[in-house]
Amino acid sequence: MNHFLQFRFFLSMLENKILKAQKILVNGGVIALPTETVYGLAANAYDASAVKRIFTIKKRPLTSPLIVHTSHLDRAKLLVKSMPEKAIILAETFWPGPLTLLLEKKASLPDIVNAGLAEVGIRVPSHPVAQMLLEKLPFPLAAPSANPFGYISPTTAQHVEAQLGKKVDYILDGGRCTRGLESTIVGFSNKKPVIYRLGSITQEEIEKVIGPAPYLPPIQKDKSIQLTPGRSERHYSPHTPILVGDLPSLLRNLRNHRVVALCFDTSLDDLSVAHQVVLSPKKSLEEAAHKLFDALHHLDMLGADFIIAPYFPEEGLGRVMNERLLRASTQP
Ligand code: TXA
Ligand code: MG
Repeated sequence: MNHFLQFRFFLSMLENKILKAQKILVNGGVIALPTETVYGLAANAYDASAVKRIFTIKKRPLTSPLIVHTSHLDRAKLLVKSMPEKAIILAETFWPGPLTLLLEKKASLPDIVNAGLAEVGIRVPSHPVAQMLLEKLPFPLAAPSANPFGYISPTTAQHVEAQLGKKVDYILDGGRCTRGLESTIVGFSNKKPVIYRLGSITQEEIEKVIGPAPYLPPIQKDKSIQLTPGRSERHYSPHTPILVGDLPSLLRNLRNHRVVALCFDTSLDDLSVAHQVVLSPKKSLEEAAHKLFDALHHLDMLGADFIIAPYFPEEGLGRVMNERLLRASTQP
């Protein structure tokens, strides 16, 4: 087959897959949706019973609100009462892309979507397959990450298959997620921007566009401060206990255990190659972020007593990965 025919074949396969996903969603089904961050577990946001199934499949408490995905800013505006000026600037800068904005929900969206809160998370994903599907649908998609509640988010269709395979109506395979970390969540408290979840767009990138946007970490020492629902301490956790710190010292301290390691740029001499993943020999934080969850899925399958992981440089995506690893390592 020449390249043109190969391309036509690939395109028609993709169109068929999108058509199938579309039909299932129109009929109230739940599918796994590829996005540039992680795979989502998606249903018609206006269909309360389809949305309820998302919670059941994930074993997610109904108090934990979902993000609503739509194809572009104009459609997003129809879902909310209003958008603060800085929200519009952020949307125009980063959409389509890995940014979720918390905005005041219109009554027409069912309350189950956002756990009955005043605000709903809205995001316009940039993944071409997600975009093609959302363009075709007459409704937005409510979608949390497609993992059992508390587990690592999936960055391939195979991760979804392994974790939730039989429970979802269809897995729309859009390949490996390019970003690999969830979207950054920005809300507005008295019109002032606040970052509620660090994610694929760094705080530095956000602040370059709108000025100060402090991060409100989910783990508050002061218990009198109300946490955003769903921002529980332990999250993104593999089944294997995970320890974060200086890798050679951790390895020495655990010498009587079966240990596997997540490494940033260099491998550990004292551990076999099969028992470690080096994320980015060229020390790229983007590459490490892209591979992080896939590496954790892989290491979790090796049946070790512990996964050991390093601290990344505390800047940009390094800070985001440190935060994910620390939350994964907190014991319940
Ligand atoms: O990249 C992403 O954001 C992926 C893809 C699929 O879009 N989605 C995702 O959704 O990570 P989820 O449900 O796994 O994480 C969303 C987080 C939760 O911690 C939830 O509590 C918070 O966003 N959230 C959503 N809506 C909220 C709201 N109205 N108020 C406060 N927090 C909210
Ligand atoms: Mg999640």
